[in-house]
Amino acid sequence: MTNRIEGGGDIALECVDLKKSYAEGPIGVDVLKGISFQLKKGEFVAVIGNSGSGKTTLLHMIGGLDTPSSGQVRVSGQDFSALSDRQRGDVRNQHIGIVYQFHHLLAEFSALENVAMPLMLRKTEPVKSARNRAKKMLERVGLSHRLDHKPAELSGGERQRVAIARALVTEPTVVLADEPTGNLDIHTAKEIQLLMSELNQDLGISFLIVTHDLGLAGKVERVLKMEDGHLMSVENLESF
Ligand SMILES: Nc1ncnc2c1ncn2[C@@H]1O[C@H](COP(=O)(O)OP(=O)(O)OP(=O)(O)O)[C@@H](O)[C@H]1O
Ligand SMILES: [Mg+2]
Repeated sequence: MTNRIEGGGDIALECVDLKKSYAEGPIGVDVLKGISFQLKKGEFVAVIGNSGSGKTTLLHMIGGLDTPSSGQVRVSGQDFSALSDRQRGDVRNQHIGIVYQFHHLLAEFSALENVAMPLMLRKTEPVKSARNRAKKMLERVGLSHRLDHKPAELSGGERQRVAIARALVTEPTVVLADEPTGNLDIHTAKEIQLLMSELNQDLGISFLIVTHDLGLAGKVERVLKMEDGHLMSVENLESF
């Protein structure tokens, strides 16, 4: 049994007037200029926007990987900024799965070990059960024949699928995915899209996905566009 922290009603995550500036020499860069939005439990939302518009920056703030200059991020009702590093790590481990833009797998570990890692970090999960769950998730992304391969021994698409399995294995409240199908061929990209929508429907996991793939964006419930430091609703995808 995991000691799950619940809360937040039907809101999986919420940003309130989130701002992020980077100090670069004498000129600061204001990347996020006041982002407010809510992601409901079970919602599937895409974020689009030009390169450099701040999509990865936003995901990093939401995932608690970097701290905003001001504003709030609430995950399952808990304000990240009010938590210690350790508590923030616990909330992230329980509630958030992250698929990074560049997969960030651990080079010395096998695919199976990489996927089992977030469960092992919980310490409450027996090793055998963590490995079994990791194995099942790797089967689900079509990699049952690559369990013992290390990242360097996998293709780019296979690495991406391992990264996706690692984000999903904990059955988090929210999956944040940064171009999860960006490096994949069309066939594998479609399979991954299908997998994500199945997990969304079967388990009620919310997805916030950064994508340039408007084919994927067209399938989602809501599309948001990052532009000039703000996040706007896209009503009509045809216009892009
Ligand atoms: N650590 C940093 N220090 C200074 N500037 C940064 C830092 N990280 C990002 N930036 C700047 O912030 C802006 C937004 O970067 P970000 O990575 O969020 O863009 P993005 O929308 O994800 O782009 P892409 O589609 O190319 O991945 C960029 O102009 C980038 O140069
Ligand atoms: Mg990016």
